[in-house]
Amino acid sequence: MNIMNVDYDGLIPNNVNLNGDPRVKAALEKWHPGYLDWWNDMGPDGFQESLVYLRTAVSVDPKGWAKFDYVKMPDYKWGILLAPQGEDRKIPFGAHAGEKAWQEVPGEYRAMLRRLIVIQGDTEPASVEQQRFLGKTAPSLYDMRNLFQVNVEEGRHLWAMVYLLQKYFGADGREEAEALLQRRSGDEDTPRMLGAFNEETPDWLSFFMFTFFTDRDGKMQLEALAQSGFDPLSRTTRFMLTEEAHHMFVGETGVGRTIERTCQEMQKAGIEDPFDVNAVRKLGVIDLPTLQKKANLHYSLTLDLFGNEISTNAASAFHAGVKGRYREDKLDDDHRLESSTYPVTRFKDGKIVTEEVPALSALNMRLRDDYVADCQGGVSRWNKVIEKYNIGFQLKLPHVAFHRHIGEFSSIKTDVDGNVIDDAAWDKKKDEVLPSTSDRDYIESLMAPQFEPGKFASWLVPPKVGIDNKPGDFEYVKIA
Ligand SMILES: [Fe+2]
Ligand SMILES: [Fe+2]
Repeated sequence: MNIMNVDYDGLIPNNVNLNGDPRVKAALEKWHPGYLDWWNDMGPDGFQESLVYLRTAVSVDPKGWAKFDYVKMPDYKWGILLAPQGEDRKIPFGAHAGEKAWQEVPGEYRAMLRRLIVIQGDTEPASVEQQRFLGKTAPSLYDMRNLFQVNVEEGRHLWAMVYLLQKYFGADGREEAEALLQRRSGDEDTPRMLGAFNEETPDWLSFFMFTFFTDRDGKMQLEALAQSGFDPLSRTTRFMLTEEAHHMFVGETGVGRTIERTCQEMQKAGIEDPFDVNAVRKLGVIDLPTLQKKANLHYSLTLDLFGNEISTNAASAFHAGVKGRYREDKLDDDHRLESSTYPVTRFKDGKIVTEEVPALSALNMRLRDDYVADCQGGVSRWNKVIEKYNIGFQLKLPHVAFHRHIGEFSSIKTDVDGNVIDDAAWDKKKDEVLPSTSDRDYIESLMAPQFEPGKFASWLVPPKVGIDNKPGDFEYVKIA
């Protein structure tokens, strides 16, 4: 079978020759009804019968892997798609660098690999759960379709991780696959594993910020796993990254379109002061200072996902050849890091300082630094929009110490510039740097659904081009 093409004959589309693997096929077919139950209970609320113009992966060929068509979401072809196996791939880093990549799980790294796969897997359904009520307030059918596209693909990413668990981890893999369907975002007793995935996504600005900031953490983690010496993990995450790009597009353009509408309306009304929040809000758009606060919130929550700046787990995973650095294959060094150092921002003796530490222990920090640079690219593009309208305002990523719950800065409070402040000062300032209740209420007040083809809610501009080059009034969702 040609790996580029996907076998659509059975219950589970795949390019891993499931038919030749009856044990795993049976395990996945057994897991399938539970997945559908989860999707029906926790997936997009109220739209399961609607026809959605979705892309489905029909190949893993980077040029032309997707096909667009109307699908009811529960009928989406959630499949198992791995990027092609590289000929003679070698482990690219760590103690085993240069050895043949593993096609089976090495016994000594089994627990570590399973944990990484389960953590990644847990984030995928979590975001679907977080976003399940957003369809009802979609600012357009175009945006609604993008939301559902992201949702079905996160569902597929769960499949991707579950395949690895079922195929390579035997009975405990099956148990973990089951548990991935049991946990629930935000649930007191059985929450999802990571903090940001238990937060609410109550409105569309939150959704855009989430896909910009938090899906981008997903991208960084997947990039690091795509380097893995465990080849099936590398191949599956490489294909997930192909889909993930659209999620960040949704976030970046969603926020960008919001900014653009705000600037347009300010210009029309002759408002020059971006901080005149009341005047701007009278125009029915989201003022720039509130956009900044939303960015502060989602960015800081997402930074926590990178874990402790100094981490022995991260060092072990790298040393083992299990989880690499961002674009490890493009980096020019010894790929072992046993004698090099890396600068880490730390909190020491009451001050934020930068300190060289052994590079192996600083891998979370390093991945976070790459993430920050990636975020900055998008923020700069947003600022170009504001500049175009000659409005004196720039969005800025806050200092990494701001509003943190994990790592070096979790015990302190700082302002957005990273100046340490005491609790009293924080309490006073908080509503100026994070969304306040009244900001949330205002945003919520704008969330009126707009379900007419080609129409958009007041607070954001239409996209420059349609999905799959469809015309502006295309009916992306036929609501049932
Ligand atoms: Fe994902
Ligand atoms: Fe995603």
